[in-house]
Amino acid sequence: MRPTYAVTELLGDGIGAELSRSVHTLADALPVRLDFTPVDLTLANRRARGKAVYDEAVEAVTTTKVALKYPTVTAEESPNQVLRRRLDLSVIHRPVYTIPGVPTNFTRNLDVDIVRIATGGTYDDPGRAIGDDAAVSLRIVERRPVREAARYAFGLARKVGKRVTTASKYTIQKATDGLFESVAGEVARQYPEVTHNVELFDALLGKLIMAPEKFEIVLVLNEYGDFLSDMACGLAGSLGIGASANLAFDASSVVRVALYDAAHGTAPDIQGKNLANPTAIFLALSMLLTQLGEVALGQSLKAATLDLLRQGVRTRDLGGSESTDSFTAAVAAEVGRRTA
Ligand code: NAI
Repeated sequence: MRPTYAVTELLGDGIGAELSRSVHTLADALPVRLDFTPVDLTLANRRARGKAVYDEAVEAVTTTKVALKYPTVTAEESPNQVLRRRLDLSVIHRPVYTIPGVPTNFTRNLDVDIVRIATGGTYDDPGRAIGDDAAVSLRIVERRPVREAARYAFGLARKVGKRVTTASKYTIQKATDGLFESVAGEVARQYPEVTHNVELFDALLGKLIMAPEKFEIVLVLNEYGDFLSDMACGLAGSLGIGASANLAFDASSVVRVALYDAAHGTAPDIQGKNLANPTAIFLALSMLLTQLGEVALGQSLKAATLDLLRQGVRTRDLGGSESTDSFTAAVAAEVGRRTA
């Protein structure tokens, strides 16, 4: 009997249907059974059913505790924002790493886990004008999400034997970034075996480029994480193949709900053409398996996917000649071999 796990599958737009087919093909090759609960988050269904679709999604994700989300069109609302708010997804974990064989302008090896507080900072307040010549917005930092993100980052560091860097502008933004560093510091003291470095955020950007090997897990506030993720992805040459975990926590900072997704969008220009690259959603699935406790299997899926890319088995967006289906079949066969 294969161990069975319930997973919510949030169906999306554009290449979402093709990616879902790929995920199911891959899932069939795994030594565990993923029992998917699909929820239709396509634009047509959102327009037809409105809030009821999100109610259904929230209920399913709360029940299964883990979800895989395909890209969705942002039209009247951003489904990502709605789900973040309704599921209280307060932290985003985004691993970014160079993949040998994937073209990049950056010649160094990069392998960094960015843990970002997903709420607050300058993003919760659109601001307002003060007369004609000025404008103001509030910057908000709250203890709870910082503590949750810090416990997640230090817990991850302890598990995988890595160090944590916190980065902010605490010397200038004394109240907000000072609070962030103080909460992170309190958490750090509970993990004495984990090395904790503090950097100014502007210095971090330079150092990450000059000495990327010094940065393993980087914990940052919302807007810094936003900038840092895109810069790191640009360095890794992998804007289109990144994946993230969106996390909600219980009162003792244990992950309560985890939603995994690809960073790319719905790619309407290649929809239905068997050209979509499923790498990002496979990497998202690998993180999901790790969260389910299937750490070796998650690693094996990630390694199989990256090894094939390294060997030149790639879809066209990465300069290869594989279709969605043939790349999926190759990964499924490789994972099957490795886990037999
Ligand atoms: P996009 O990521 O969909 O496309 C940008 C370019 O990358 C296109 O040329 C596309 O063909 C290519 N691309 C993206 N994913 C690919 C894949 N897996 N395989 C091969 N090529 C791929 O970004 P764009 O065009 O700005 O947005 C399109 C739609 O996606 C918009 O409606 C936007 O709202 C939505 N979107 C949704 C996101 C989500 O649900 N997480 C994230 C970003 C955008």
